[in-house]
Amino acid sequence: MAQVIVVGSSNTDLVVKTDRFPKPGETLVGGDFFLFQGGKGANQAVTAGRMGAEVSFISRVGNDLFGRQTRESLEKEGISTRFVLEEENKSSGIALITVNGQGENTIVVAPGANASLTPATVQTCLNSIPNPRFILCQLEIPIDAISFLASYAQKEGKKLILNPAPAFELPESIYQQLFLITPNETEASLLTGLACNTEEDYPKIAQWFINKGVQQVLLTLGEKGSYFQNSIQKIRVQAQKVAAVDTTAAGDVFNGSLAVALAEGMNWEEAITLATKAASISVTRMGAQASAPFRSELV
Ligand code: RIB
Repeated sequence: MAQVIVVGSSNTDLVVKTDRFPKPGETLVGGDFFLFQGGKGANQAVTAGRMGAEVSFISRVGNDLFGRQTRESLEKEGISTRFVLEEENKSSGIALITVNGQGENTIVVAPGANASLTPATVQTCLNSIPNPRFILCQLEIPIDAISFLASYAQKEGKKLILNPAPAFELPESIYQQLFLITPNETEASLLTGLACNTEEDYPKIAQWFINKGVQQVLLTLGEKGSYFQNSIQKIRVQAQKVAAVDTTAAGDVFNGSLAVALAEGMNWEEAITLATKAASISVTRMGAQASAPFRSELV
């Protein structure tokens, strides 16, 4: 069985469907309301579990109702909550999400206990997880924890995958410790300062990361698919055309599936194709973790 460590956020998503997004200062009467389990870290962990991996998930929740529901839901998914630690006197992470008629979203996150995931806590948890080679993380936890993970991965010979979402400028030293970075177009532009709109832009962006020391780059391009590059290979994978209902967590489903495929020993093309299929199923369903497909659906 493939084994993957996911380090990252857990949120509860409060979601309202609406035909269009409100303008600043406008009150808009929307459609249905949904409460979903979310958080980029938890979404990736749940996806990895549904893909058939044994997942060790390191995260923090508050000592409140949402935190308890998060832990219960993870346990139902078969994911151990041994490393989903409760933080006293903190609220759990919350995301306020609107989803429009085209399935696009806006997301505002109140990190709560996610902001307390320190390098020391991550280290203590990692000391109890001896085997997995692949570690997957995102940027909804403190940058100190990400920097620690990057150094740890390099020292211990682990393969660190960074999904740089939501993106902000990273310490230079992190890049040379990354096995793989998986930005979307907006994140890639923000990190590199380069345009990421056309087929000609993708190799330039990838080369920017490779020059910084990243081993492989995978640009996720939404309905345009993805672009992979390392020092010996360039791979362009197209996405399947689907009617999108809710694109929330499509990137998380992609990253969680990809990590499992790589941990299973698939080659880059096979792994990206599997992750693309999983993400394209997720956008046809409402919700974050609720939309992640099971491995049996990827025939
Ligand atoms: O990537 C989608 C996720 O972003 C949501 O589940 C929300 O919680 C935010 O973390």
